[in-house]
Amino acid sequence: MEIIIAKNYDEMSKISAGIIACEIRKRHDLVLGLATGDTPIGTYNALVDMHKKDGLDFSKVKSFNLDEYIGLAPLHPNSYNFFMRENLFKHININSENVYVPQGNTDDPEEFCLWYEEQIRKAGGIDLQVLGIGSDGHIAFNEPGSSLASRTRVKALLKQTIEDNSRFFDKIDAVPRFAITMGVGTILEAKKLLLIASGKKKADVVAEFIEGPVTSQITATALQLHSYATVVLDLDAASKLKRTEYYNWVRDNKQLVQKKVGR
Ligand code: PGA
Repeated sequence: MEIIIAKNYDEMSKISAGIIACEIRKRHDLVLGLATGDTPIGTYNALVDMHKKDGLDFSKVKSFNLDEYIGLAPLHPNSYNFFMRENLFKHININSENVYVPQGNTDDPEEFCLWYEEQIRKAGGIDLQVLGIGSDGHIAFNEPGSSLASRTRVKALLKQTIEDNSRFFDKIDAVPRFAITMGVGTILEAKKLLLIASGKKKADVVAEFIEGPVTSQITATALQLHSYATVVLDLDAASKLKRTEYYNWVRDNKQLVQKKVGR
């Protein structure tokens, strides 16, 4: 895992947007996995800026979102579909036919999950998957105890996740109890992973997933099994890490490291 520690949220967002933009410039028809939540908003704003000012071209990019609440229609203001449109899609030139977000109001979630996996396969797999991390260590909605080999499926949400996400809803009872989520196994098949995290409330879980043992109790630890994972943190989220000096040295000596290890 490459660990990049930014000064603050703004720098974290610019660095992660830079990583995404670099992949799009290398491959115009990039298959991009996207995440929702507060954390990636700054990254999406920076990508919108790059589109408007530097002509970053999304016309051939295909996107797959990680998850969606069961029971919310795509136009529901609390749906992740709506979030993506408001925070990214409506500001860039992505083709709506190339946008995939799990359908929360599907009649047959199980069938839908199989179909979603099939669309990822047909697209040739995800090239770069953007991830956040929940305070319980989840990636997408892979709550503690999720199989590290899991595929896209319906998952019951942990009480802690429901409480964390209740800030977006009028009342806690309005937060859906279930979601469709890509599995940990699905995520691990992406060619590259980019996890971003910010703020003091993520500091403990960030230290655990980077420096602790691999466990299904913290599904983000699965990134340790991936051959190309980058983690971009702000100082607060990185504040409980033990090997900060080493991560910073690797980053500051990137050219030397690239020459030696080819990355
Ligand atoms: P957040 O959510 O970015 O709103 O903290 C992250 C997540 O739950 O994956």
